[in-house]
Amino acid sequence: MSNINVIDHPLILHKLTKMRDKNTSTAGFRRLLREISHLLCYEVTRNLELTTDSIETPMTKMSAPVLAGKKLVFASILRAGNGLLEGMLDLVPSARVAHVGLYRDHDTLEAIEYYFKAPDDISNRLVIVVDPMLATANSATAAIEKLKERGANNIKFLCLLAAPEGIEAFTRAQPDIPIYTAAIDSHLNENGYIVPGLGDAGDRMYGTK
Ligand code: PRP
Ligand code: URA
Repeated sequence: MSNINVIDHPLILHKLTKMRDKNTSTAGFRRLLREISHLLCYEVTRNLELTTDSIETPMTKMSAPVLAGKKLVFASILRAGNGLLEGMLDLVPSARVAHVGLYRDHDTLEAIEYYFKAPDDISNRLVIVVDPMLATANSATAAIEKLKERGANNIKFLCLLAAPEGIEAFTRAQPDIPIYTAAIDSHLNENGYIVPGLGDAGDRMYGTK
């Protein structure tokens, strides 16, 4: 599992526990996901390349660090990916955004696509795909295949919770793509839900169940 990065910062783990708690309200769940996404964003962007700009402070001229290269792309897997996306955009407001609409068929657990919109020029940009849950990995794999078809060639996948089964399937399908997650849980249940998990992320974010 060499392409797995577990971001187990104490603040993330504390907030994740609150999110897992079934008594946390919809509003609380959304707020916590936004807060955690700031912390995850900080780590997933840690190795971005820098260049320098010449600026003048009130005191003197200086050559100061700024991000190099083309703007990032954040690709949100709908619906629940938007919970991470919003917080990521708080930190990187100039990022471009792709939306990939997918839902899991309840019986087959296959990912069914219903929407796709991405910036035209995603090749040669870092594309960070975001979705809180990596369960079977069908959704993440389908989203990444679609983004690769559109030219993406530098991709990272960021989630909140991953199941060992999903990590294995993802690594087999996308061996070149690093996974960033806050936690690796025990297993998937017979319905494809992560255990102990946090339930259905989309439903908990939007109060749809
Ligand atoms: C959830 C979650 C992921 C997917 C993960 O979405 O947000 O996209 O399941 O499961 P997988 O790894 O087995 O594909 P869901 O299909 O419930 O849609 P929603 O976000 O619209 O609720
Ligand atoms: N999708 C979710 O929202 N939760 C899970 O546990 C698995 C897939």
